[in-house]
Amino acid sequence: MTSKHIETALISAGRRKRYTQGSVNSVIQRASSLVFDSVAEKKRATAGRAEGELFYGRRGTLTHFSLQEAMTELEGGAGCVLYPCGAAAVANAILAFVSAGDNVLMAGSVYEPTQDFCSKILSKMNVTTTWFSHTAGAEIGDLVKPETRVVFLESPASITMEVQDIPAIVAAVRAKAPEAVIMIDNTWAAGILFRALDFGIDISIQAGTKYLIGHSDAMIGTAVANERCWAQLRENSYLMGQMVDADTAYMASRGLRTLAVRLRQHEESGLRVARWLAERPEVAVVNHPALPQCKGHEFWRRDFTGSSGLFSFVLKARLSDRQLADFLDHFEHFSMAYSWGGFESLILANQPDELAAIRPAGGVDFSGTLIRLHIGLENVDDLLADLADGFARVAGSSKN
Ligand SMILES: Cc1ncc(COP(=O)(O)O)c(C=O)c1O
Repeated sequence: MTSKHIETALISAGRRKRYTQGSVNSVIQRASSLVFDSVAEKKRATAGRAEGELFYGRRGTLTHFSLQEAMTELEGGAGCVLYPCGAAAVANAILAFVSAGDNVLMAGSVYEPTQDFCSKILSKMNVTTTWFSHTAGAEIGDLVKPETRVVFLESPASITMEVQDIPAIVAAVRAKAPEAVIMIDNTWAAGILFRALDFGIDISIQAGTKYLIGHSDAMIGTAVANERCWAQLRENSYLMGQMVDADTAYMASRGLRTLAVRLRQHEESGLRVARWLAERPEVAVVNHPALPQCKGHEFWRRDFTGSSGLFSFVLKARLSDRQLADFLDHFEHFSMAYSWGGFESLILANQPDELAAIRPAGGVDFSGTLIRLHIGLENVDDLLADLADGFARVAGSSKN
C-alpha cells in the first residue's frame, strides 16, 4: 500500500523508467511477437512471463505492464489483469474460481449483464447462483453453503444505488466459508473511493470504460487481486485469452492522471444536482449515497472517501410513455445513452416494474418512475436549468 496521497499516487503510478523510456507517459508498445536476441533470453523471458518479462503480446507489453503496475499500487493488490471491457472482467473473474457443482452468492442488484452471465452461462456449467437482497448485511452468512465458492458484490447497487454493509458481509462469509473468493464490481468508486481490498475483499473489478477512460471513447476492464487469488486469476484469464490492445491500455493510464480532479468535479456537481432534486416537489426520493435519504448512506459515510457522478432519483408519479418521451427527448445537455463515467451528462429512465424484473431478490419498494443521471463536467447551473425545463415539459404533458 502506498503512503502517498491518492492525487500524487495517480500521477506517479506505473511511470517507471522502463515503461516511459525517457518520456513522461508510458510508451505505446504494440506487439504480438516480441523478439528474443538469444536462446538464453528466450529462456529468461519464458521463465518470467507472468512477472513482467516481455514474452508474447497476449501476456502484455510495456504499455500493459505500466497500467497493471499502476492499478495494483492504487488498489493495494498483488496484481492486476486487464480485459477488453468490464463485462469480460466480471465474467472471467468468476470463471477463474468456479467448477461444476459450485455455488455463487450474488447480490440481487448487480449490473444486469452480470446477472445474465449467472443465469445464462454459469447455469450451463452446473454452477448455481443464490441471490441475496442488496440491503442485507450479516444475514448473508445464512445463505453460504458448503459449495459456495464465489461471493459477488456491487455497491452502490446498480441503478437504485443502495450501499451495502461490506464489513458485515465479509465477516459473515469468512466465518462460514473462509476459502470463498469475495469479489466486488467497484466501478462506481473508480477503485479509489472505496478501497475494496483493505476491507477483506479478494478481487476489485472495474469497468475502466467508465472513470478510468473518462471520455466515453474506449472500453477496458480491470481486476486487481490480493496475494491469495492473484496467480489463479491471472493464469485462468490468460487461458481464456483475455487482454486489451496497447492503445486502450495507454488511454486508461492517461485517464489515471486526471482521475482525482475529474472525480472531485463529478462529486461536487453531482451533489449540487442531487440536493436540488431533493427539494423538487416532483421527486419522492434521491438515491445518492452521500445523501442521508439513500439506503445504506451510513455505510457510505463509514467506508467510502467520496462519491462519483452517478445517482438516481424516484419521481412521485409513474410517468406515462408520452410523459417520459416529453421529458427525455428534449434535453440540451443530458444525452440518453448507456454507460457513464465520461465528461458528459447522461440520463436514463426505468419504470419500477422494469427494475423489479432485474431484482431477483426483490427490494423494489417504490411506484414512481426512476431516473438515473450521470453528472458530467458541464457548468451545474446549465444542468439545473435543463432539468427544470424537463420538469416543466412533464407538467405540461398529457398522460396519453
Ligand atoms: C457497474 C457496471 N459494471 C460493469 C459494466 C460493464 O462494463 P463494460 O461496458 O465495459 O463491459 C457496466 C457497464 O455499464 C457497469 O455499469
